[in-house]
Amino acid sequence: HRSLLSIADLNPLDVQMLLERASHWHAINRTPDKKHDPLKGLTQINLFFENSTRTQASFELAGKRLGADVLNFSVSASSTAKGETLADTARTLAAMNPDLLVVRHKASGAPDFIARETGLSVINAGDGTREHPTQALLDAFALTESLGDVGGRRILIVGDILHSRVARSNVLLLSLLGAQIRLCAPPTLLPADADRWGVEVFHDLDDAIEGCDAVMTLRLQKERMSGGYIPSEREYFRFYGLTHRRMEAAQSGALVLHPGPMNRGVEIDGALADDEEVSLILDQVEAGVAVRMAVLEMLGEQTRRNTERRR
Ligand code: CP
Repeated sequence: HRSLLSIADLNPLDVQMLLERASHWHAINRTPDKKHDPLKGLTQINLFFENSTRTQASFELAGKRLGADVLNFSVSASSTAKGETLADTARTLAAMNPDLLVVRHKASGAPDFIARETGLSVINAGDGTREHPTQALLDAFALTESLGDVGGRRILIVGDILHSRVARSNVLLLSLLGAQIRLCAPPTLLPADADRWGVEVFHDLDDAIEGCDAVMTLRLQKERMSGGYIPSEREYFRFYGLTHRRMEAAQSGALVLHPGPMNRGVEIDGALADDEEVSLILDQVEAGVAVRMAVLEMLGEQTRRNTERRR
């Protein structure tokens, strides 16, 4: 593989290999000897055109722990503010001979465009409402650590599916892993074609939660709702907020996930989010570093092989 732009770029064997390598790095990340050097000599540029806490920090840590030189390109301080196009910014950075680009952008398809313009290895760190493949991989890692094989497990994704790249990548990956997927959202926050995604669709959260092994709740993405219907937070919590009481209908020991950033009291009750017995939220963050190390390692090795072949 040259780039990771979508979960569709991966086959089941790739996913298995990435999760196994992530498990290796996950164990190493818990020791005082975190730094290794499979990416020594390679340069990674993190190009974040949209805000991020978890993804940006974990890609930076992941690259540094693997020995790459990591540049965090600050878009607010860049020449894009002076009118430079995305293509010119990408070509300018490519002229400095980086090996790996990690790209987040508000426009769906921007990482694919940058990969085509530069010919470089690009990792999609979240593009618009389309995909966030490393988020789905880290969710699968956290779920597998707690549940074992997710094949046949009933997993519910609830919330603002319409604007969620996390939901799209998770549906693709969890389908690949053989999970039974349920989606639950108000009709206004569900994509028109969701019934063709190979999932069960619900509008009532109490019905949707019944018998689930895990529930992933999503943030209301108000920044992507301009011009559309914006639900009231109080009303949204009443119908779609995840609480301990609502989780009683799930399987006993069912788990709760949230990709973050979360809005307490809107899509999830703070007490549930903080309940370490059921909440995987911080496990997801920890898994993010290990999974991104596995992805960077895979693409870094491929980039090195391609460069040596061209010599
Ligand atoms: N889950 C996620 O992508 O979080 P950030 O926006 O903080 O990176």
